[in-house]
Amino acid sequence: MKFALVMGASGDIGKAIAADLASDGWSLYLHGFKNQLSLDEQLESYQNQFPKQDFFKLTLDMTDEKGVATFLEALFQVDAVIFSSGFTSYQLLTEVSAIEMEKMWQVHLKTPLLLLQKLQPKLAKSTLGRIIFISSVYGEVGSAMEVLYSTLKGAQLAFVKAYSKEVASLGITVNAIAPGAIQTKMNSEFSETEVTELVQEIPVGRLGQPNDISFWVKQLLKEESSYMTGQALTISGGWLK
Ligand SMILES: NC(=O)c1ccc[n+]([C@@H]2O[C@H](COP(=O)([O-])OP(=O)(O)OC[C@H]3O[C@@H](n4cnc5c(N)ncnc54)[C@H](OP(=O)(O)O)[C@@H]3O)[C@@H](O)[C@H]2O)c1
Repeated sequence: MKFALVMGASGDIGKAIAADLASDGWSLYLHGFKNQLSLDEQLESYQNQFPKQDFFKLTLDMTDEKGVATFLEALFQVDAVIFSSGFTSYQLLTEVSAIEMEKMWQVHLKTPLLLLQKLQPKLAKSTLGRIIFISSVYGEVGSAMEVLYSTLKGAQLAFVKAYSKEVASLGITVNAIAPGAIQTKMNSEFSETEVTELVQEIPVGRLGQPNDISFWVKQLLKEESSYMTGQALTISGGWLK
């Protein structure tokens, strides 16, 4: 049995990742924070469809460092970790409060790194040992009005490069996926005109769907992907590349 921890499984991309992995034979720890309904629905659906696999629901506010130790206690075998948790806010850097900076840093980097410090021995013990960050194309090219978000997404890419070198000899691979514009809750505030204008900029002529991302996560988790590490796959329909 192989176990993956999907951080942000309650979100749209995380849910697509969980669904693809469940149908690929993975047992899952499904993490979420506020959207408990999404986790409950997924849990019921996967338990019915894949009765021989195990599924667990876990809650953690990633801005609350005190919760990390208890969260870790609920994990036993871990063969792969996917970080699909995140949020953005549209504002000029001059408008971002120190509290908001701290929260965004905690969700995108600090808490993932605290988790990995403790999960590393489990991943090293695994015959797979996979870590994937869902970063963003903005981490590669940057975006005005999302400077903090772009900075942290870029930091995730830098982390992947550095940490992959540190743990390669343990048999752990560390990669990132940098999505372009994916149709999820995160973009639900865009007006119809904004979406039309955005789509015109995307060479393949459409927004991405969550399964455009989950497909690649599934590939990176396969045994045959063991020679790929420290990389970022940009999945953006050619946008911003
Ligand atoms: N959508 C895009 O166009 C796009 C493009 C590039 C990169 N990405 C990245 O893809 C990842 C998934 O985004 P998505 O589009 O699927 O967005 P989403 O549907 O809004 O999902 C966001 C996920 O992050 C979790 N999260 C947010 N704040 C949290 C906190 N304080 N503690 C714990 N979990 C927290 C949410 O949990 P709850 O809902 O349960 O609170 C949810 O599971 C993010 O890292 C995002 O930056 C998205």
